[in-house]
Amino acid sequence: MAQAGPVPHWETFYASDDVVRHYARQSRLQLPERAIFNRIGPALSESHLLDLGVGGGRTTMELALRCKCYLGADVAAPMVAACRERFAELILNHGLRFEVVDARAMPFEDASFDVVLFSFNGIDLVGADARATALAECRRVLRPGGHLVYSSHNLNWMDSRWGIRWQGLRNYIETQRFWSQIQRINRSVWPIVARDWVELIDPLAGGSNCYIRPLELVRQTLEQGFEDLQLYDLRGRQIDDPQQQARLTDPWVYVHARASR
Ligand SMILES: C[S@@+](CC[C@H](N)C(=O)[O-])C[C@H]1O[C@@H](n2cnc3c(N)ncnc32)[C@H](O)[C@@H]1O
Repeated sequence: MAQAGPVPHWETFYASDDVVRHYARQSRLQLPERAIFNRIGPALSESHLLDLGVGGGRTTMELALRCKCYLGADVAAPMVAACRERFAELILNHGLRFEVVDARAMPFEDASFDVVLFSFNGIDLVGADARATALAECRRVLRPGGHLVYSSHNLNWMDSRWGIRWQGLRNYIETQRFWSQIQRINRSVWPIVARDWVELIDPLAGGSNCYIRPLELVRQTLEQGFEDLQLYDLRGRQIDDPQQQARLTDPWVYVHARASR
């Protein structure tokens, strides 16, 4: 039977050899991730951690041996295969697991994990309609009080008209170049500047990608049953003031929230 709708990223872009190889070479936590996991602190060592959208295992390197039980999961089977090859020794000797899992419908019991990480804007790829579903799934598989850590593309970055002041000339030029590519592909893009979040065709990845304003990110996360939410910028600084959150123009922003108790 013919497949309905466009072929998703994970069957094209994220399943391609070059992209898998690229992600399987990555190995360092990003600054905000490091800040968040330091904040979770010693509790991590007793945790069951789900590393969702694990890609080629960038985050595995630093997290797998810091938790009690580690499961890396990705909807792209070639990413999972690359992780199994890359971490063969750790799988054998430390019980790491890697599985093909779709964030929109996870094959796990309720409250199976203490920490769910969906890193490097993986949530932006699940599709606009399924974003809330993916967040609700993360909430369902977390125990009450468990930690959700994820990042998302920042729509402010896309239309930061004061980009030179906030980002420096080089970043500004890059942003504008990217923005004009997106405009070419998404013809009616201008109306989005007044919106809270959008799904755009991303010229780099050739598929749809969501961009969201920081306050909307906060709102959507709380709406799906999370609390005690902290937002981080790209340098790993916690941004608590809602006015500052609303003005953030970093290309992506980071969330650390607890599953409601
Ligand atoms: C930008 S890559 C990030 C990979 C890795 N987390 C990293 O930081 O290097 C996003 C990953 O999310 C995965 N992904 C996209 N949609 C997904 C879904 N519905 N369920 C699980 N993983 C998904 C992609 O296959 C891809 O490996």
